[in-house]
Amino acid sequence: MEHLDFNLAGKTSRVVFTDIAGCLEVPEDLPLVVTDQNVYDVLSSSFDQAYRGLVVNRGAYLYRVASGEKAKEWQSIAGVLQRGFDIGLGRDALFIGLGGGVVTDLTAFAASVYMRGCRVILVPTTLLAMVDAAFGGKTGMNFGGYKNMVGTFYPAEEVRIAPEFLRTLPESEYRSGLAEVIKSALLDDPQLLEILEDRHDQVMARNPGVLDELVRRSIAVKGRIVEADLTETGIRAYLNLGHTFGHALEAVTGFGTWTHGEAVAWGIQRAMRLGILLGVTDEQYARRVEDVLNRYGYRLAARGVDPAALFEAMKQDKKKQSGTVRFVLQRRLAKTMVQPVPDPVVMQCLREGC
Ligand SMILES: NC(=O)c1ccc[n+]([C@@H]2O[C@H](COP(=O)([O-])OP(=O)(O)OC[C@H]3O[C@@H](n4cnc5c(N)ncnc54)[C@H](O)[C@@H]3O)[C@@H](O)[C@H]2O)c1
Repeated sequence: MEHLDFNLAGKTSRVVFTDIAGCLEVPEDLPLVVTDQNVYDVLSSSFDQAYRGLVVNRGAYLYRVASGEKAKEWQSIAGVLQRGFDIGLGRDALFIGLGGGVVTDLTAFAASVYMRGCRVILVPTTLLAMVDAAFGGKTGMNFGGYKNMVGTFYPAEEVRIAPEFLRTLPESEYRSGLAEVIKSALLDDPQLLEILEDRHDQVMARNPGVLDELVRRSIAVKGRIVEADLTETGIRAYLNLGHTFGHALEAVTGFGTWTHGEAVAWGIQRAMRLGILLGVTDEQYARRVEDVLNRYGYRLAARGVDPAALFEAMKQDKKKQSGTVRFVLQRRLAKTMVQPVPDPVVMQCLREGC
């Protein structure tokens, strides 16, 4: 089994590249496995043997939540904690989160508060969770109608990656994760961008070798950033490229109308345009980014969406950042910056994107 170790604020977070059986191998001290109903159903039928070994034969230690964002609320978190108490897990308990970003966020958050912090291993099963949610130490739950309003920094001791999980992932979820891969390439990996440009058909066919490369490279980019800044006091904000716009679009259109990744792809394109309006982004680079986003079929115009409503949603999001909306912009590949932007320029950019 190959692995990469990252030092996240003094704590080692190991990313293990393995197969499904390796992901589902559990230590002697049986863990509490948290998963969602959909993952449970899909994996039980598709990867029968290994999955049965872990969750069916050890059903007493399984906690299932309903699939979807609503699992990131108090009720599910309390459910995980209660299950831990019911089966008598102590401070040395191990929680395993098996699923997409919802499950990995929920499990890591619950682990971070269970008896003031217990062990946690994450096994992401969506592309988005592999390249983003499961690794990097942020946990989150939704509160008061806002996404990720409550959370902790609590890196998993291990993140186990098996791209073969992605075989059963619906196309829309796969493309959602791909937007984060594109973002990683733009932030710090020219070769990853070339793979996305030159091997589009293999990427879309989920060629195992190409998938492996996409996931490893994206994790390496995120690893370099979060090792330098786990708690987002500086360059971790770069990971939000496209997200200020994307979150506003998700909020205005209703979560689920655009997948997170589709909204981020639209947001990346808006960030390029904003950079051009401000005279900071190289126009040839922005065209290259637009070509990649087009090639992967992302919608780059949010037709029918009200720019003023998007602007309002950004202001709401502002509350989370103590009053200022700061935009992640790029001069060119791997040249990223964060800066406030005057409202009229933001409005112009939003109008052009609708
Ligand atoms: N902590 C972080 O740093 C971070 C970063 C990015 C995103 N997130 C969070 O991640 C969440 C989104 O994650 P997501 O996109 O993985 O969504 P998700 O967890 O809801 O998964 C998407 C859907 O795919 C299903 N699924 C999962 N694995 C599957 C598989 N192998 N085959 C078939 N179906 C499968 C799930 O049941 C679900 O229905 C959001 O809540 C977001 O806030 C967190």
